Amino acid sequence: MLGEVSERPEFCEAMLEAFAHHKDGSLTPFCDALKTIDFSAAKRPKKCKLEHQTMRYLDHLKSEAFDTRFARAAEDLDWSQIYEGDGLNKDLAEGMLAAQCVGTYGRHPSDKVATGLFLLAPDIHYPLHTHAASEVYLCVSGRLQLRHGMHGASFDLRRGELSITPSGRVHELKTYSEPVMLAYLWIGDLTAPTWWWEQTSNDTWQRVSWTRIPGEPWKQIGVEPISQDDIQKANA
Ligand SMILES: [Fe+2]
Repeated sequence: MLGEVSERPEFCEAMLEAFAHHKDGSLTPFCDALKTIDFSAAKRPKKCKLEHQTMRYLDHLKSEAFDTRFARAAEDLDWSQIYEGDGLNKDLAEGMLAAQCVGTYGRHPSDKVATGLFLLAPDIHYPLHTHAASEVYLCVSGRLQLRHGMHGASFDLRRGELSITPSGRVHELKTYSEPVMLAYLWIGDLTAPTWWWEQTSNDTWQRVSWTRIPGEPWKQIGVEPISQDDIQKANA
């Protein structure tokens, strides 16, 4: 309508359009959550451009984006390394960057929704993990290999395709020889730890918890065994 001004950032408009295109009822809570954000509230200021070796993939990923609104967001939003800490594989830690549009540290503050971009370098294996938030990944550029459940079959996510990970479901991500840019959306408990799973023997697993203070990378805080009950729940 003439004169109508949408305050919703074009990144979020692009997410909503992509979700509508997929016509999947499971996406409704994600769309509804995104529509409740008050974009007239004060924004966080833009930061200096991140100098980081993984940023070298960004120009190519922007040029390949299936929707140019994501490419513009990749240029505009503030990128940072997601995980940091002793004992973490250096290539894995440095190979994952995020730029948040909405969320606990994003351009638009929210403690209900987190959405933004996620860049993975080539040959990354982000191991089996769980989190309380429900998650959508929308592939913007490149090709990602995803697996849900410890014994689930892996599948590829290509440009324009998306996947939904329910709260608490164990999943893992891998990249091929090319980098990948995803758009992500989290709803639910955004501040609960993310748990990385590690197999310690044939039938024994432990999980490492990662937590974050908004604006800082996720940091490792503890390790605990995973019970058979928890394994069943995460694979349900
Ligand atoms: Fe996840």
